[in-house]
Amino acid sequence: METERKKLYSAIQPTNNLTIGNYLGAIKNWVNLQSEYDCYYGIANMHAITVRQEPVKLRQKTLSLLALYIACGIDPEKCVLYLQSHVSAHAELAWVLNTITYVGEMERMTQFKDKSARHADNINMGLMDYPVLMAADILLYQADVVPVGEDQRQHLEITRNIAQRFNNAFSPTFTVPEGVYMKVGAKINDLQFPDKKMSKSAENPNGSIFLTDDRDTIIRKFKRAVTDSGSEIRYNPAEKPGVSNLLSIYSVFSDKTVAEAEADFAGKGYGDFKLAVGEVVADKLGPIQSEQVRLEADRQYLDGVLKSGAEKAARLANKTLAKVYKKIGFYQI
Ligand code: TYM
Repeated sequence: METERKKLYSAIQPTNNLTIGNYLGAIKNWVNLQSEYDCYYGIANMHAITVRQEPVKLRQKTLSLLALYIACGIDPEKCVLYLQSHVSAHAELAWVLNTITYVGEMERMTQFKDKSARHADNINMGLMDYPVLMAADILLYQADVVPVGEDQRQHLEITRNIAQRFNNAFSPTFTVPEGVYMKVGAKINDLQFPDKKMSKSAENPNGSIFLTDDRDTIIRKFKRAVTDSGSEIRYNPAEKPGVSNLLSIYSVFSDKTVAEAEADFAGKGYGDFKLAVGEVVADKLGPIQSEQVRLEADRQYLDGVLKSGAEKAARLANKTLAKVYKKIGFYQI
């Protein structure tokens, strides 16, 4: 008898330009895990509107993120790729989960505090409710594992709490998911401020390598990357945050361990090292970029992927939602 495979859920917001942080912290891991799990990969456009978006750009970024998923090696024949707003169960389950989530818990979320500071003129209810919608995403698909970067750890923890709280109050309903983090790559830092996370929305674009950057830009940014005092190329995030960040990037992009990466640069100077990191990143991103451009031009294909993705996603999501509605006492005809 065929055993049922475990389920995997993850998503990315179609906002700004994705960085190598998003690639290394999330997408690369997704590609590796797709043959092991039943995978659901969302495009989180409902999360995106918790900060202001230009409608035309949001639409464009949605398709280019889908094209990127596929260009990076996620196979739409094996995985369900879909747009969050196409499956109405996300909003419906989020509403139910809101009623078992406390305002105080949401106010304590680091990302809410950060984003409230950055968007002080738009601290809307959606921004605060963001983790509940994320919990709904994950729980609808009964996900066993959720591969994300380190910055999502707190949201994963609250998802687990919400799932357990519901299960205890109404009887077991949701799988309690585990976060999966890359050993190296779960937190890629800014090239100019190596104590800060590399971010899609950073003010200084020189600190982030965007997945759309061309070869010259990539190499220039790495050449300018902040290193540390001393001249040794050694992995030690506390003492050498700049060099360690570059070693992490090099090691994941070249599929080598950090120790192998260190060995590659034994006795070499920072200049050679930074050039080599730039080259390995540019070599890897080049083919992804051309494939993304090719796919973006094929609207019919992308629409087809989204359509079949939405149907498959809705099937499972609606099944979970129906269970929830029954358990909480919503009358069904
Ligand atoms: P988002 O769109 O901010 O980021 C997408 C993924 O990239 C990871 N990431 C990083 N990893 C390593 N180093 C970095 N510098 C770095 N920056 C970003 C993030 O951890 C994330 O995995 N809330 C989510 C989207 C989401 C979601 C979900 C994720 C919505 N629903 C359900 C998982 C499950 C977010 O904003 O990711």
